[in-house]
Amino acid sequence: MDRRRFFETSLLGGAALMVPGAAQAAKPFDPLTSPLAGSVYYTKKRPGRWSRYSASHLPVFERKGNALHVKTPHHMRGYAHYIVKHMLFDQNFRMIGEKTFEPGKDWPISLYDVTSMKGPLYAMSVCNLHDSWLAGFRL
Ligand SMILES: [Fe+2]
Repeated sequence: MDRRRFFETSLLGGAALMVPGAAQAAKPFDPLTSPLAGSVYYTKKRPGRWSRYSASHLPVFERKGNALHVKTPHHMRGYAHYIVKHMLFDQNFRMIGEKTFEPGKDWPISLYDVTSMKGPLYAMSVCNLHDSWLAGFRL
C-alpha cells in the first residue's frame, strides 16, 4: 500500500470511529450475557454441557448486614469430586475475593465484607469435574 492510500484509509477509519453516538452505544461488560457464559464458564441461563448439574453448582447469595455469604449446594465427599474454590468479582469483573476449599474439612461457603460496595457482584464456583459457574447478586 502506498503512503497516500495508507493515509486515506486511516482517515476514513478514524472518521468512522467518530460517528456521533458511537461511544454511547458501548454497553458495560455483563458476564452473565457475555459470549463467555456457556463456553468458558456456565450460568443459570447458559448451563452449556452441564445443564443437568446447574442447581448443585450455581453459587447462592445471602446478605447478612455487611457480610455477603456465598454458598454452593454441592457435596464435598473427597478429592474425587468437590468445589475447589469461590471467587468474587466486582461490577467490572475484577476479582475482589476468593476462598479455596478442602474436601472433608470445608463446606463450599465463603464470606465477604461488602461494607463499601455497591452495584452488582458476581460469584464463581469452581467444581473439579463440572467447571466454573457464575451467578450475580445486586447489593
Ligand atoms: Fe460437580
